[in-house]
Amino acid sequence: MPTTIPTLTDLHARGAAQQPTYPDAAALEAAVAELRQRPPLVFAGEADELKARIADVAAGRAFLLQAGDCAETFGNVTATNIRNSLRVQLSMAVVLQYASQVPVVKVGRIAGQYAKPRSNDLETRDGVTLPSYRGDAVNGLDFTPEARVHDPRRLLDVYNSSAATLNLVRAFVNGGFADLRTVHSWNADFVRSSNVEEKYTRLSEEIERAMAFMIACGVSDDALRTVHFWASHEALLMEYEHALARIDSRTGTPYGTSGHLLWVGERTRQLDGAHVELLASLRNPLGIKMGPSTTPADARALVERLDPDAEPGRLTVITRMGAGTVRDALPPLIEAVEATGRKVAWVCDPMHGNTYATERGYKTRSFPVIWDEVDGFFDVHAELGTWPGGVHIELTGNDVTECVGGVHELDEADLATRYETACDPRLNRDQGIELAFYLAERLREDIARRGINPVQAFEPREL
Ligand code: PEP
Ligand code: CO
Repeated sequence: MPTTIPTLTDLHARGAAQQPTYPDAAALEAAVAELRQRPPLVFAGEADELKARIADVAAGRAFLLQAGDCAETFGNVTATNIRNSLRVQLSMAVVLQYASQVPVVKVGRIAGQYAKPRSNDLETRDGVTLPSYRGDAVNGLDFTPEARVHDPRRLLDVYNSSAATLNLVRAFVNGGFADLRTVHSWNADFVRSSNVEEKYTRLSEEIERAMAFMIACGVSDDALRTVHFWASHEALLMEYEHALARIDSRTGTPYGTSGHLLWVGERTRQLDGAHVELLASLRNPLGIKMGPSTTPADARALVERLDPDAEPGRLTVITRMGAGTVRDALPPLIEAVEATGRKVAWVCDPMHGNTYATERGYKTRSFPVIWDEVDGFFDVHAELGTWPGGVHIELTGNDVTECVGGVHELDEADLATRYETACDPRLNRDQGIELAFYLAERLREDIARRGINPVQAFEPREL
């Protein structure tokens, strides 16, 4: 087990991919020095607790919902946005938990998701070329030379924005906002106000009866009123993640304290690269994104590198294959990882393999295609006898128009109405809940086909 954190110099010597190019070295040094003095954003013990829950996901005893913005922005750190995001995620989790009859582990893409990898360093508009937007952690979205300069002081804004967000999230999930009865009433509203199929109305009514039964059984108010909710983001920026990597005083081992779960992205998962090197040294639960170009040998090498001790809950493999590819590309990766003897949490990201641009230049994704990738993911796991452990979704709690399709039948002409994302197109609130209802049905079928009876299969335990 690693006990030291590699130095920043060592990490940069590996040619860290997707890093900013700061024009002002002294400002960078000052920002990093200040970050190193700041308290951790999360406690290592919380990361351990999440790891234990992800171990349940990997073992087929829980389902993971990881969701939130593609790119958080400083301007969007408002009570309304945070509340709406939490609201849609909790709504989805209730539906999924009822259908799967296993605990849903709720992990937000939140409180740290401020840096974006980009395919191109430069962006050209009307003959003007500027550095690409790399997330509020690096530069500004406005298409001006001033905004697009890489500014290291933004790293402190990431810290402050993440702290403010986490603070409200913690208050919400412990303070009664997440009460099961309230969350269910949001879902009931969705079913009433949207033109959903009759079967979803029935599902919502079933949940209501199940809740009445729980309450009649005397389930404690605490169990109904509070939930666990974790923060995750892509660990992209070396300076930021390194400054918040700390030695845990309990165990003397390193943890990333910028979030509970940190993941390495599709563009930065080079086996001998800086990102893998840094994450390998931390004890947090880790995510690895794998796209269609991942070979079985890559998958095997990455899981062995990031999880040398085959530790339960350490790894979540987030596959983002594309709807047309998932059924062929996923099975060899699952087989390669399973052959190492590891049980990882398999999670489907149906967003990043299915992005396209409309004729009018909007980046979008189509709800039926997103669903098709999820369906393919379930098909593959059913075929191989492995557990489809969860989904990873880009969404917002607001009524944006960024993805086409879904219950309100948004089409390409609707995208201009409320297209607000700073990066990739997100499902809006109703599309998110609708996806949860689709998933619920699929989970139920799969569980029935496997003959799992959760009541008999699992020991009573604290959920
Ligand atoms: C993302 O999750 O926003 C992202 C950039 O994903 P990927 O690394 O899978 O492309
Ligand atoms: Co994205």
